[in-house]
Amino acid sequence: MASNCATAPAAPLAGVEAVVLVGGLGTRMRPLTLSAPKPMLPTAGVPLLCHLLGRIRAAGVTHVVLGTSYRAEVFESYFGDGSALGLKLDYIVEDKPLGTGGGIRHVASALTEPDVLVFNGDVLSGLDPAEVVQTHRRACADVTLHLVRVPDPRSFGCVPITPGGRVLGFLEKTEDPPTDLINAGCYVFRREVIDSIPSGRAVSVERETFPGLLASGTHLQAHVDNSYWLDLGTPAAFVQGSADLVRGLAPSPALPGSVGEALVLPGATVHPGARVDGGSVVGAGAVVHRGTQVSGSVLMNRAEVGPDAQVQRTVLGVGARVGSCAVLHDAVIGDGAVVGARCELRDGLRVWPGVVLPDGGIRFSADV
Ligand code: GTP
Repeated sequence: MASNCATAPAAPLAGVEAVVLVGGLGTRMRPLTLSAPKPMLPTAGVPLLCHLLGRIRAAGVTHVVLGTSYRAEVFESYFGDGSALGLKLDYIVEDKPLGTGGGIRHVASALTEPDVLVFNGDVLSGLDPAEVVQTHRRACADVTLHLVRVPDPRSFGCVPITPGGRVLGFLEKTEDPPTDLINAGCYVFRREVIDSIPSGRAVSVERETFPGLLASGTHLQAHVDNSYWLDLGTPAAFVQGSADLVRGLAPSPALPGSVGEALVLPGATVHPGARVDGGSVVGAGAVVHRGTQVSGSVLMNRAEVGPDAQVQRTVLGVGARVGSCAVLHDAVIGDGAVVGARCELRDGLRVWPGVVLPDGGIRFSADV
């Protein structure tokens, strides 16, 4: 099932195993996350998680524990024991989500190595995880955090550091950030630090664990990296990330095809008079009709776009249908929904699964 994600084996990275947190509800991505957990959404032809698992494998780490909760069963039925990817995968399920820190603590019983790489399962990045481990070991740190620079740090966890890279503070989503360095959602924990996180209750690693560790004088080290990074938390980021993978801007060992302007999966049909570009993906069984332009968009399996339509930076869920001359910019169309001919949807509008919008039934502008 998961053979599309397979990557070449690398030299083993001794003394390290990985945890990937994939148990979140993905509320900001609804309605797409009603049918699939965010890390399983098809992103450049494979589940988003495949790109991360490929990088973990390429760094020489073979034991990966998935911390699941929301739609936990979906992960195991796709990835199985992980052997198709050259990995040994374990699944630890939280009955109800325990948060990022609680999720890390909850998988502790499945860990045996002294250093633990922890990843948020919804981040696309070009980071080599082995380099974070190197920084961690060189600094003899208790925890090492992957940090990236962003133009506007206000909606992230902002992390000021010393010139030597020691973490000074952890300010989650602050209006007046003292630095442009933010938490990129990948850490190396010394195993004992994981055991010190309270068990059996919800804990946020960002709001509780890191500030608490700093207050108690624990050594938190920064690994600043300038390679590609994107948090795929929202539909806008999701379409951006997918397009970046297809165009090769986001490096991935799991891309099922060569990089280019579009990824048209086997079984998809694109009319010769249609244009598909900007890193768009056309899923298996999807159809794009004559005269239609699809740009920077994700058409999931069996989606269909009628003639002379415009689809930009938009996600069409599985089996969604769009009528002729419709205009969709920055929209999200749920699985099986129907957007009638000449409808015009813009600016983040979301259509829930199965909803049917009649022909000309919704317009953004007055000119029909
Ligand atoms: P939103 O509901 O839209 O905020 O999305 P989310 O639930 O995915 O939360 P967020 O983006 O902050 O999560 C970052 C990563 O941590 C994602 O890969 C989540 O799946 C994961 N995650 C978040 N909360 C939990 C949790 O309670 N348990 C586990 N195991 N993972 C979690």
